[in-house]
Amino acid sequence: MNVLITGGTGYIGSHCAISLLENNFEVILFDNLSNSDAKVCDQIQLITNKTITFIEGDINDKQMLNKVFSSFKIDIVLHCAGLKAVNESIQDPILYSQNNVKGTHCLIETMESNGVSKLIFSSSATVYGDPQYLPMDEKHPLNTLHPYGENKISIEKMLEEKTQTSSSWKVLCLRYFNPIGAHESYLIGESPTGHPNNLLPYIMQVAAGKQLELKIFGNNYATPDGTGLRDYIHIDDLVDGHLTALKYLFDIKNNNNFDVFNLGTGSACSVLEVLHSFESVSGLKIPYVFSKEREGDIPASFADTSKAKLILNWEAKKSLDDMCMSAWQFQLNNL
Ligand code: WQD
Repeated sequence: MNVLITGGTGYIGSHCAISLLENNFEVILFDNLSNSDAKVCDQIQLITNKTITFIEGDINDKQMLNKVFSSFKIDIVLHCAGLKAVNESIQDPILYSQNNVKGTHCLIETMESNGVSKLIFSSSATVYGDPQYLPMDEKHPLNTLHPYGENKISIEKMLEEKTQTSSSWKVLCLRYFNPIGAHESYLIGESPTGHPNNLLPYIMQVAAGKQLELKIFGNNYATPDGTGLRDYIHIDDLVDGHLTALKYLFDIKNNNNFDVFNLGTGSACSVLEVLHSFESVSGLKIPYVFSKEREGDIPASFADTSKAKLILNWEAKKSLDDMCMSAWQFQLNNL
């Protein structure tokens, strides 16, 4: 079975590619390399000892997309391509809607004209906005605080409408909480280009001496230690959730054409807990200062994971220390 992964050389896409290859799927990676490096293909082939196909391209390029679909028999699309920096989306909402929403529309049209009608979408818990209750289940109101979150809501809606108007379409939207860590081989991991926005990649850069200290955005939240609470999930667990979702989509007993699932651990850790976990696994001291709260941040976010457990029989297994250890070992491999 052939899986096309848009955004395939990115953090999520590349880790999913390994698991799919190890489960005897054929994998075609499609990426515009705006936030990743094609070198990751070599690592994927080294880890799996299997060949993959990589095609450089943009989901807004219908001609290129058509060429991919006419060159390969695609059975399902894992749609991970998209810009994902919250603050950048606030600065340039037009870029984000053009790239993320219009790009997905172009992908859907190309899939339709090539007879491909199964898709798994890389969505985000950011669609929930400021929690009205915690933990958040999939029924929590969608109420995002920024253009990036609006993109995810618009894309989920577009995909649901597609399944309502075309009975052959089957779509699952996976709402990621905070994926972190690296593949168990420590040969691939999260390595954003430029200045990291997210917590653990920033801590990595402090550990590697590329940044002076961690700025902790706010320490007066109504949380146990005053710093922000998030539901961090190991990338290996997130990938396992994708594989489980893909098998569910192809299960002929499943006549559920559209659904959404939270992918989180169901428990929350604070910024200071992540920092201390990293210090304990690395043996390093990470200098930090408290600074003002970051625009668009929420005090706490964590998942109700019962739906994925009940329907997909999936749950996250790895600990925060596992996440930090894998990220640190990956960093050491790439110093
Ligand atoms: C986590 C915590 C920060 C950096 C975002 C997107 C979400 C998803 C994951 C794409 C917060 C604190 C962070 C730093 C800090 N992306 N922090 N100093 O904001 O929960 O989620 O990334 O899908 O959609 O919204 O993740 O890692 O940026 O922040 O104190 O230098 O760490 O305030 O409490 P976030 P994050």
